Order: sequence, then structure tokens, then C-alpha cells
Amino acid sequence: MCQVSYRQPESLARSLKCIYFYFKCIFKMRTSFLENILNQDIEWFDRNHSGDFTTIFTQNISKIEDGIGEKIGLFLYSIAWFLTGIIISLYEGWKLALVAMVSLPLSTILILIITKIAAKFSKGEMEAYQDAGAIAQEVFGSIKTVVAFNGQDKECKIYEDHLVHAERNNVLRCIFNSTNNFFLWFSMFACYSLTYWCGIHLIIGDRDLPSEERVYTPSSLVTIFFATLGATWYFGLAAPLLEVFATARTAAQKVFFILDSKPKINTIKEKGRKLYRFQNCIRFDEVYFSYPTRSELKVLWGFDLQINIGETVALVGSSGCGKSTCIQLLQRFYDPTLGRITIDDVDIKDMSLKWLREKIAVVSQEPALFTTTVAENIRFGKEGAPQEEIETAARKARVHEFILTLPNGYETVIGERGGQLSGGQKQKLAIARALIRRPQILLLDEATSALDTSSESEVQAALDSISGECTTIIVAHRLSTIRNAKKIVYISEGRVSEIGSHAELMAKKGAYFKLVNSQGLMDTKPFSQIQKIMR
Ligand SMILES: Nc1ncnc2c1ncn2[C@@H]1O[C@H](COP(=O)(O)OP(=O)(O)O)[C@@H](O)[C@H]1O
Ligand SMILES: [Mg+2]
Repeated sequence: MCQVSYRQPESLARSLKCIYFYFKCIFKMRTSFLENILNQDIEWFDRNHSGDFTTIFTQNISKIEDGIGEKIGLFLYSIAWFLTGIIISLYEGWKLALVAMVSLPLSTILILIITKIAAKFSKGEMEAYQDAGAIAQEVFGSIKTVVAFNGQDKECKIYEDHLVHAERNNVLRCIFNSTNNFFLWFSMFACYSLTYWCGIHLIIGDRDLPSEERVYTPSSLVTIFFATLGATWYFGLAAPLLEVFATARTAAQKVFFILDSKPKINTIKEKGRKLYRFQNCIRFDEVYFSYPTRSELKVLWGFDLQINIGETVALVGSSGCGKSTCIQLLQRFYDPTLGRITIDDVDIKDMSLKWLREKIAVVSQEPALFTTTVAENIRFGKEGAPQEEIETAARKARVHEFILTLPNGYETVIGERGGQLSGGQKQKLAIARALIRRPQILLLDEATSALDTSSESEVQAALDSISGECTTIIVAHRLSTIRNAKKIVYISEGRVSEIGSHAELMAKKGAYFKLVNSQGLMDTKPFSQIQKIMR
């Protein structure tokens, strides 16, 4: 009794410790999973479907949870009882014990085979759910497009197809498991009958021996019977757990593939040089680049360009000529295949990545806003920025007045991805978020091209007022957006084909001249007049 009361708190403490480590392990896995994904290089996102991550995050991790939870304890406990039962029955009478256990090797082989097959089905099931989850996520992300194109039925059908695949795998897995259980229990009960039959024969055989030489008596038959009964019972309990472990193992493969992926660019985020201020120029020095996922496509091929600090430069050219690629290379989303990009003669590869990105702000065509307050959305540009700075940035982006008309002003929560705002309002918030960083380099990638003419001119006015404060690189197709650019760079076939002011390029009558004409603007008018038309 004393021993029991001594052991109980000890085992309780051990269980609590196990539970604590179990939760710690799952917590660590979940946080590392997200952290690891967020720190991957952009190339990695090109290769992996981001929609899959949510399903892996929820489904796979809970399958691992299942496999490493109390089931491990239950498995070890069952195996311990199984071994104890076997040892006792072998000790009591090995001949009868072997008869009682005759089905065990067969059951073990059967269980191993079926577990392997079931694991294959559960992998198929998980992958199908993963694909279905990715589709649902994509549909929710583009709900307006889906509704506008009456695509609900089509999307439901695609989703259903994946679910059917998952369901088929699930049914097959269950059939295999039930067959497994059927054979297991059938062979166990068959063995019990055989044990009784043989036991009675052995008792009769031993009946004429002197009592001290008798091995098989009614009492030894009962002991062997119940010991093997217990052993096989616990074996039956432990066997299905193997399937849970196999599923957890399959689920873990995907999770650990992500946890083990090491980024090439982002790993050394903090290390590297930090300049005080950019002073001279940004240089693309004979840059050759192909996207890692499409290495056959030569995007930049001997791209050479110098942008002086403080300048406003426009990159123009036909769609797909590599304008956005230049901007992404400057942010070090990718590294050039050959050549280098320098700022003040320092290769950006040698700079601290975190520091470099802090000095750059980007406004792209589709502003990405988060489901939080207006203030928090702007603050995303500068962690911990006080309210005054947020308001100054909003004023510069000409969105302050609008924010004040919202029900809770800066504390108004905007809908998912800013769904409750107009395109122009979203874009101005994105500009405010870019401005709050006080960037040294401002990158505008088709920042106004998705807007209607009146919103465009408002957003453009906001951009014009700030472009003088930093080095600005504008990617645009419409001439109205580049009216402030002193230098216009026409990109063609992966390199700079024309460079100069608007007037110089118009006089050249080359590709830029054609681009201007294709937009219905007369080359005979001076640029100032074109600007007026555009305003
Ligand atoms: N992440 C990517 N992976 C593979 N190819 C890409 C990727 N992004 C763009 N491309 C391809 O690279 C070329 C240049 O793209 P981009 O720089 O975006 O053109 P644009 O001048 O219109 O901004 C295009 O042919 C495009 O299809
Ligand atoms: Mg582009």
C-alpha cells in the first residue's frame, strides 16, 4: 500500500512530463512550420503550391499528433502485456503455448502487409484532401471572379472530384483494415479452439505419469489459455496502432520536407554589409537571368543599366519583357544567373538582406491588404510606428481624409484583403504603407494600371508628390504614369534597347515612339502637352 502511494505521484509526474513534452513538441512543430515557410526563397514558392500548406498545417500535423500522443504509451503498454503473456505460457508448457500461438506469425505478416497497403491509401487520401483544400482556398481568394463568371458549379465539381478521390482511398483503407481485423480475430479464436482440443489431449497423455512429472494438468491448461488469450488480446490492441503510426509517418514526410527545406538567399538574412545611405547609383551589371522554374526562358540577357540615386526612372516595354523581373532582382527575390546588381559599387548579395529590404518599398498592381485595422495595415510598413507617423504617411498618400470618413477612422477593420474598399482607396493605403518606411528606393510596379482614370489620376498625384524624395523606379505601360520620369528605359529581348528622355526617344522614332503612337498620342506634340492630356 505504502509502495502504491509512493509510486502514484511518481507515475503521475511522469505522465504529466510526457504530456508536457508532447504538447511542446507539437507547438514547436507548428511554429517552426510557419516560420520555415515564411523564410523560404521566392523560388521555393514558385515550385510549391501555397494552397497545400494550409492543409498540411492542419491535417498532417494533427495526424502526427495522433501518432505521437498517448497512442505510443498504449502501444508500449500492450506490447509489454503481450510479451508477459507469451513468457508465462511458454514457461507453463511450451508445446501447448506454441499451439496457442500458431496464428501469431501469420497474423504479424498479414498486419505488416496490410499496414503498408493502408498507409499507401492514407497517403492518397491526404494528398487528395490537400488538393481539395488548395482549390477551396484559391476559390475563396478569388470569390468575386468566380461569382462573376458563374464559376461556382465548376469549382464545386473540381472540389468534389478531389473529395471523391479522397473518399475512394478512405473506403479502400477501411476495407483493408476491417479485413485485417477479421483475419486477426478469426485466427485468434481458431487458435483458442485448437488450444483446448490439443490441451485436453496433452492432459490425457500426461495423466498416467507420476504427478511430479506431469506438465499438462487442467490448471496449466487454464494458465496457458488465459496467458495466450491476454497476449493475443493485447496484440490485437497494438496492431491497429501500427496503422496510426504509419499514417503519422506518411504525414510527417510532408511536414519534414518543409521543415528541412533550407533557403539559399534568406538564410543569411541578418549578415552582410549595411551602408549608411545610398549615394551614387544602382547598377545592373551585365545581368543574365532565367527563372529557376523555367530555365529555358531567357528573361534578362546581358541587361545593363545605371540608375543614379535620387533619379526617377521608368522601365517600359512589351508585356513579359522583364520589367517586373528587374524589380524582383533588386529586392533579391532571386539572384541573377550571371552578372551582378550593385548599389554604390557594393553587390547586393554582400548586403544584409533584411537591411536592404528595409530600404526598399514596393507598390504593386494588386495591393495586398490584411484583415485588420487601417492603422495596422499602414504600420505593416514600419513595425511599431506611432500614430502620428501613420497619419503623416496617410496624408502624403492622400488617403487621410478618406480614412476619417470610415466608421472608426484609423481603427476601422477593413474586410478580407481590403474587399470593402475601392481599387483606388486600397492602392492609396498601399502607398501610405510604402511611405511610412521612408524608403530610399521606391519601386512602383504597374501601381496604377488596375485603376480607372479618375482613381488613377488621384493615385498618380500622390505618387508624383513623393517621387522626388527617393530613387523611384516605375514600371508602367501607360505613358501617363511615367510623366515624372527623367529617364525612360525601353526593354526588349532581355536588354536595354533604348534609353533617354521622352523627347530624345521620340526623336529616335524607335520602339518607344511606336509604343507612344500605339497609345494614340501624337508624337508631334511636346511632352508637356501630352502630360496635360493625360492629366
Ligand atoms: N515566377 C516566375 N516563374 C517563371 N517565369 C516567370 C515568373 N515570373 C515571370 N515569368 C516570366 O518571365 C517573363 C518576364 O516576366 P515579367 O518580368 O513579369 O514581365 P513584365 O515585363 O510584363 O513585368 C515572362 O515571360 C513571364 O512569363
Ligand atoms: Mg510586370
